[in-house]
Amino acid sequence: MSIVNAKEMLLRATDEKYAVGAFNITNLIQMEAVVEAAVNKKAPLIIQTSVTPSKFLGAKVLACIYRTLAESAPIPICLHLDHCSDVEFCKECADAGYTNIMIDASKEIFKENIRQTKHVCGYCHGIGNISVEGELGTVSGVEDQVKVAEDEAALCDPEQALKFVDETGVDIFAPAIGTAHGVYKTKNPKLDFDRLKRISELINGDEPKVPLVIHGGTGLQPDVVKRLVFLGGSKFNVSTDLKYALIDTTYDYISSHRDEYNPGKVDAAIKATIMNRIYYWIDMLGCAGKA
Ligand code: 13P
Repeated sequence: MSIVNAKEMLLRATDEKYAVGAFNITNLIQMEAVVEAAVNKKAPLIIQTSVTPSKFLGAKVLACIYRTLAESAPIPICLHLDHCSDVEFCKECADAGYTNIMIDASKEIFKENIRQTKHVCGYCHGIGNISVEGELGTVSGVEDQVKVAEDEAALCDPEQALKFVDETGVDIFAPAIGTAHGVYKTKNPKLDFDRLKRISELINGDEPKVPLVIHGGTGLQPDVVKRLVFLGGSKFNVSTDLKYALIDTTYDYISSHRDEYNPGKVDAAIKATIMNRIYYWIDMLGCAGKA
């Protein structure tokens, strides 16, 4: 029950208008922290790994730790590969035991994006209960190996979105609507709420079919987050916030304990900070108690 793909949990979230937090982690402490916080909040959870940490730690190692933690957790948990533009690595992670795979061919022309996304869907659906995320339009900023300049970012066309979803058979869909990876330069970034509403109506108007993903969660104000969720975003990605929490806490702890050589205490400080960030996001996304 605890090991699930993303689509299963997100169809309900779409229907009930809440979002599941999808948190990028880079190590075991972070993975334990997000699981423990979600269990305490009785919230469904998506753990994400970007390509670089997935390769550094190894997809099989990550999937093995995920499965061990998820099997004994009383909540549904998905392990998602984030923004992978390499079809072969998507397949490797699916083979290793990830339960959701994001093929990010959004920088390709439309036809090629459809071809690659469809191919990964065919593979993942063929080997087991693995759902696939695709993206259309491009999200600006930096997320691991994906770097898109602000003036290169392109918003998702609603009619094309419908065609993309129909032709690829993708399970969950990330439309670019103006959010950005990393830290926003302004408190009020220009987001296209109407575009999200239109895409949501076109794809999930009659009944939830293909849940929508909001990228670039870090730095969005609470009222903006809630509006995006109300308009149909049911997977909400947060990465940079947790990187800052990890690095700042490590720095602060070591700076104020210069004579201490107990790594377990640094780990405990990091875990506590990350858990507090997860509580913040889960409360805002409305998924507490939904497991
Ligand atoms: P942030 O780093 O802005 O939180 O974005 C996360 C994300 O969208 C991961 O895919």
